[in-house]
Amino acid sequence: MPIAFGEDRYIGRPAELEELAHLIRAVQDGSGSLLLVSGDAGMGKTRLAEEAGRLARAAGLAVSWGQCAEAEGAPPYLPWTQVFNQLSAGSPLTRIPDWRKPAEEQGSRFQLFEEALEAMREVSTRSPVVVILDDVQWADAASLHLLQYAASQLPSLPVMVLANPRSRGGERARDHPSQHWAPKGGPAIALASADGKRG
Ligand SMILES: Nc1ncnc2c1ncn2[C@@H]1O[C@H](COP(=O)(O)OP(=O)(O)OP(=O)(O)O)[C@@H](O)[C@H]1O
Ligand SMILES: [Mg+2]
Repeated sequence: MPIAFGEDRYIGRPAELEELAHLIRAVQDGSGSLLLVSGDAGMGKTRLAEEAGRLARAAGLAVSWGQCAEAEGAPPYLPWTQVFNQLSAGSPLTRIPDWRKPAEEQGSRFQLFEEALEAMREVSTRSPVVVILDDVQWADAASLHLLQYAASQLPSLPVMVLANPRSRGGERARDHPSQHWAPKGGPAIALASADGKRG
């Protein structure tokens, strides 16, 4: 074969990449968003999120990745735990919420969410941030509530959250809150066809 596409080469999807570049510029200007990247299994959601992470890093932003787990019994807030652990790895944050505490010892959920937002504000004073939540169709309900809570505050913070919900094909998807929580009217990319995907 005269032409060998490297495994890492991202193909096509210029409109989506332009939208990402636009949102990354907005985050650099202090205005974040919740970007939903949806599509069926294999349409390229994770790959686009990786590309977003690469673009964001190249622009000097901090990037963290929360992976939602398909397995039943994953601890609540698992993706957010990963995100905040990564964000505080280099230089610890003053305070990150103690997700492991039993709910009755956490105080109100509002308090926990506010602690999470405060931690986000602190980390975003160091550099703008992109948070990726992959496979959000498998997120626990508490994580989704925090995402919903954070979403309304993102426009006034240099923090962009990119959440990947699978449209169909997730085992728990049909009745899962991830099908109903998403705020209307925010930026969204629907990967309806695999025009940029290698066969
Ligand atoms: N634009 C692209 N250029 C090159 N390869 C791509 C592109 N989009 C997707 N792929 C490749 O196609 C495969 C499926 O993509 P990906 O894993 O991102 O799908 P997904 O939507 O996240 O699927 P799932 O719902 O199962 O998580 C991967 O091997 C990925 O690297
Ligand atoms: Mg994926």
